[in-house]
Amino acid sequence: MTEKMKKILVTGAVGQIGSELTLALRERYGAENVVATGRKTKPSKELLDSGPFHFIDVANPDSVEEMVQKYNIDSIIHMAAILSAVGEKNPQLCWDVNMNGLYNILELALKHKMTRLIIPSSIAVFGPGTPLDNTPQETVLKPTTMYGVTKVAGELLCDYYVQRFGLDVRGLRYPGIISAETLPGGGTTDYAVEIYYKAVEQKRYTCFVKEDTKLPMMYMPDCIKATIDLGEADFSKLKHHSDFNLGAMSFTVGELAASIKKYIPEFEVDYEPDFRQAIADSWPNSIDDSAAREEWGWQPSYDLDTMTQDMLEKLTARHRQGKLYG
Ligand code: SER
Repeated sequence: MTEKMKKILVTGAVGQIGSELTLALRERYGAENVVATGRKTKPSKELLDSGPFHFIDVANPDSVEEMVQKYNIDSIIHMAAILSAVGEKNPQLCWDVNMNGLYNILELALKHKMTRLIIPSSIAVFGPGTPLDNTPQETVLKPTTMYGVTKVAGELLCDYYVQRFGLDVRGLRYPGIISAETLPGGGTTDYAVEIYYKAVEQKRYTCFVKEDTKLPMMYMPDCIKATIDLGEADFSKLKHHSDFNLGAMSFTVGELAASIKKYIPEFEVDYEPDFRQAIADSWPNSIDDSAAREEWGWQPSYDLDTMTQDMLEKLTARHRQGKLYG
């Protein structure tokens, strides 16, 4: 039987996914058993008040090891990363945080004989030579962004530690993640979050990719469920480890806008594509996630319209209180 995670360190806990994932983990594993860490962004009051929080830098192994020893950490959920758009502005930083940070985490896990690592990957591992529709689990991985390069290398490195050292490492290729709590930081799929905020705030949005741009996406509750479900799966049943394709829904910006218009009929979008268009064009339209479904029972709950309804309800309520951005 797979051993349970008891003392979990979350890196990148102030980020879009980390901030909500940490709260969900605290509910599930006990607040004092989930240590949240970030690099420099100020954590929310909720994150600070609900359990331990510290600043660390994953590129500096001593700062991570101090936390591992202080809290007797047995598992790390490593969310800290530089995403695709920021990575193209600063590829050197992207390599340093994503690769050296990951290497430090893997080595610390070996040294401290950890129970488990969860290391997210991304649709950014794919590139222009990858089949665009229903992208298979096993396919061409030749990305054209530094973020994608670090994610492919990261998947290979994680699988190496599984095979060579018997470390329990698991990871999934997140699609674009849409959420109502923390804004994403510097990715290409950020438009799919911004569009909801602008719809509520201004009933207008200028999108940085074209109307027919189609990408795989997922709503945050499904992202959290996937991460926890994979983390709790029976390791002996997994054939893949660090690279599970993960799907939920796929839509163009035009379809996303149409879904919002069902609730806000006067909503209008115009289009001013920038450098992120080429990144979006290099990624799949949709994902074949049958390996995740077969090996650990992955099943998403939200589709475009159920997500839109929930997003707009949450953001409209906050906007009415004058607290759209927290
Ligand atoms: N959401 C990420 C990005 O756009 C993809 O993993 O960079």
